[in-house]
Amino acid sequence: MNYKAVLKNIYQTIIAEENEGKVATYIPELAKVNSENFGVHFLSVDTEEHGIGDWQKKFSIQSISKVISLSLAYKIFGDTIWERVGVEPSGTAFNSLVQLESDHGIPRNPFINAGAMVICDMLVTHLKNPKADFLAYVKEICNCDQIQYSETVARSEASIGYRNKALCNYIKSFGNIKNDPKDVLDFYFNMCSIEMNCKELSKTFMFLANSNFKTSKGEKLLNTSKTKRVNAIMQTCGFYDESGEFSFKVGLPGKSGVGGGIVAVHPDRYCITVWSPKLNEKGNSYRGMKFLEAFTTVTELSIF
Ligand code: DON
Repeated sequence: MNYKAVLKNIYQTIIAEENEGKVATYIPELAKVNSENFGVHFLSVDTEEHGIGDWQKKFSIQSISKVISLSLAYKIFGDTIWERVGVEPSGTAFNSLVQLESDHGIPRNPFINAGAMVICDMLVTHLKNPKADFLAYVKEICNCDQIQYSETVARSEASIGYRNKALCNYIKSFGNIKNDPKDVLDFYFNMCSIEMNCKELSKTFMFLANSNFKTSKGEKLLNTSKTKRVNAIMQTCGFYDESGEFSFKVGLPGKSGVGGGIVAVHPDRYCITVWSPKLNEKGNSYRGMKFLEAFTTVTELSIF
């Protein structure tokens, strides 16, 4: 397969078309990003790699970070995490509160904001220096040194984060947040503010694609069963109430972020990251979805 030619063709086709959707503005700092940024990075398990367009520019990974926090909590606590968060698609927006009341504070899955906060709470309890330790973990699985939180983005989100604050406090009222909501939210906003480029994201997600993956310290992160499960949750819940659509059109486990990034994983074959800040109505990158649909269609490399 000539991946380079396929990627280039799709990129040129999509960049010539109208760039629909809107950049997220509810986090004031994200509204400042140039909406025409468009980057792609492909990395195969046998280390073939190709970057196109703005693949070297850093962007706010936002909800993509929820996969990293889930993997760390899963590694530390094992299957006990499922006592506090479910594995069902919610069919609701990423920031929805509605199901928490009837579900007694147990979020449907770890990728909606509510579920990600419960996972953050577990990490805040366990890690000595939660923010520093989490960042060190991200660097270790990415095997990259230049990864940072964006204080500016984290502060910007905290300044308007009324809904997330409501979510966290509401879950606390059911007893499913153990720490002070302020500490959990601080960790959550910082986690979402991590900045990476497309290549760093493809590398970070290799632990879900390559069964021989080892961290920079030579450790295996998750065993085969846990890896399968994280991929399964990305497949069913990675795009909120557009998860079915992504599965239908792209056919890969993946995760989106409101910064316009999408990472998709083909177990045993490759990771691919697309970044384009304009989002569709469901909060997922418009061009990212289009690019990945075309990629798995042309290459016939989806998991189905
Ligand atoms: O909590 C929020 O609203 C953001 N920090 C993350 C949301 C997000 O990325 C949704 N993804 N498409």
